[in-house]
Amino acid sequence: MTALTLSTAAAAGLRADAIVVGIAKGAAGPVVAPGAEAVDKAYDGNLASVLETLGATGAEGEVTKVPAPSGFKAPVVLAVGLGSEPAKDEIYEADALRRAAGVASRALNGAKKAAFALPVEDAEDAGAIAEGALLGAYSFDAYKESAKDAKDAKNAKAPLAEIAILGGKPRDKAYKAEIERALALTEELNRARDLINTPPNDLNPEAFAAVATAAAKEHGLKVQVLDVKALEKGGYGGILGVGAGSAAGPRLVKIAYSAGRGKKHLAFVGKGITYDSGGISLKPAGHNETMKCDMAGAAAVFAAVVTAARLKLDVNVTGWLALAENMPSGSATRPGDVLRMYSGKTVEVLNTDAEGRLVLADAIAKASEETPDAIIDVATLTGAMVLALGNRTFGIMANDDAFRTSIHEIAEEVGEPAWPMPLPAHLVKGMDSPTADIANMGERMGGGLVAGLFLKQFVGEGITWAHLDIAGPAFNEGGPFGYTPKGGTGSAVRTLVRLAERTAAGDLG
Ligand code: BES
Ligand code: MN
Ligand code: ZN
Repeated sequence: MTALTLSTAAAAGLRADAIVVGIAKGAAGPVVAPGAEAVDKAYDGNLASVLETLGATGAEGEVTKVPAPSGFKAPVVLAVGLGSEPAKDEIYEADALRRAAGVASRALNGAKKAAFALPVEDAEDAGAIAEGALLGAYSFDAYKESAKDAKDAKNAKAPLAEIAILGGKPRDKAYKAEIERALALTEELNRARDLINTPPNDLNPEAFAAVATAAAKEHGLKVQVLDVKALEKGGYGGILGVGAGSAAGPRLVKIAYSAGRGKKHLAFVGKGITYDSGGISLKPAGHNETMKCDMAGAAAVFAAVVTAARLKLDVNVTGWLALAENMPSGSATRPGDVLRMYSGKTVEVLNTDAEGRLVLADAIAKASEETPDAIIDVATLTGAMVLALGNRTFGIMANDDAFRTSIHEIAEEVGEPAWPMPLPAHLVKGMDSPTADIANMGERMGGGLVAGLFLKQFVGEGITWAHLDIAGPAFNEGGPFGYTPKGGTGSAVRTLVRLAERTAAGDLG
């Protein structure tokens, strides 16, 4: 884990591998961003022109390294692009700082220590830089035996071990709180990434439940694991039906943080398919290689609940992890089977690859029994949502327009691209089943909305509910960007945590 502190030290005297400064695209070439005045001065005010000579423009994602000026203890100055310079009287957007800090961290993989001299106007900026730097300092190499030997060697690619942020106020309460928040949040978010990246032969439902149980112990949360026997006893036909084909049985995990009686109560429900082969409706090659990521919703929920507990937020948060492995076998659910769900509804399974809605339906119905103030489910639910919104944006559906708008605003605020999607009632008809109450499939067109409409029917009467379909952004198959690595991204964690914070502050209904 990367250590991070606020420092009032002068850049010149810092013992570090690099000093990170920001440059932005100005009207007449790159400009050095606030926070790096002392560094620029040590270059006689020529840092921007030196960088420009080297081809730097200030564009987002750009990294330019120059030898540090004489008298500096650090050998290198790393300039990271912030994108366009803000208009006069405006400051850098929090997410621009977050992304730039993430880029710098990634560029410093293998280094031990770096000091970040980026623009810090207030405590929130310091928090954003900390968050971006800590999220960028991530690598998943638990399975790279060859990398382990190289760890201590020169040019090793271990993430940055130590980060100092300059320009903040280490003794100021607001700054301290932002740094504490960033440390807890990013540690849990990076753990969610680890879970998503862990191969499915090592992370089955039982193993995931064990991780949740251990974390609950560590942070004083209540945890309850329903195993196959308990699920049978409770009548969880959806979760059992999806898990029926696997040698590793399903689980429903409840992990709860309690701030006290009388506080608002949020229920987070996560899709936790530790591997989605499609089941008997088997996915073809080319569509199953990354399906270890199909538990990213459960990982996000888990991380958010633990973060809420670590931050001691003034809101009760219950996480429900619906865990199963979707496999074909002689004991698997067949297309044509009818499942009796926890809610009592019957579902005809027409496609075993539409399994996420089945496990979620049971968990949402169960969560509804506690009549929380809101239920938010998070799921890598449909390929249709990826077609609609692409690889970086999640879809938000809800049974309450104001709540959907609030979540959208919160997502924007924390730097998670998201977009509201409708739940058109006419699409319900397509899920009519000749045999059961409802089928698990409907019209192909608008498949992401159909899935949302299916879930909606399992939400308890009168409960506010939102559904986040993170199938696009949960797993990054492309190259890393900003503070987002390749592989598991931790999508939705920051939105859930901010939602809990807002609810605690009484900002929401
Ligand atoms: N886990 C998949 C959805 C998915 C696709 C997640 C791509 C991440 C990336 C889900 O279980 C699934 O298979 N959905 C089907 C539903 C269909 C059979 C109605 C889909 O979207 O094709
Ligand atoms: Mn599927
Ligand atoms: Zn799935």
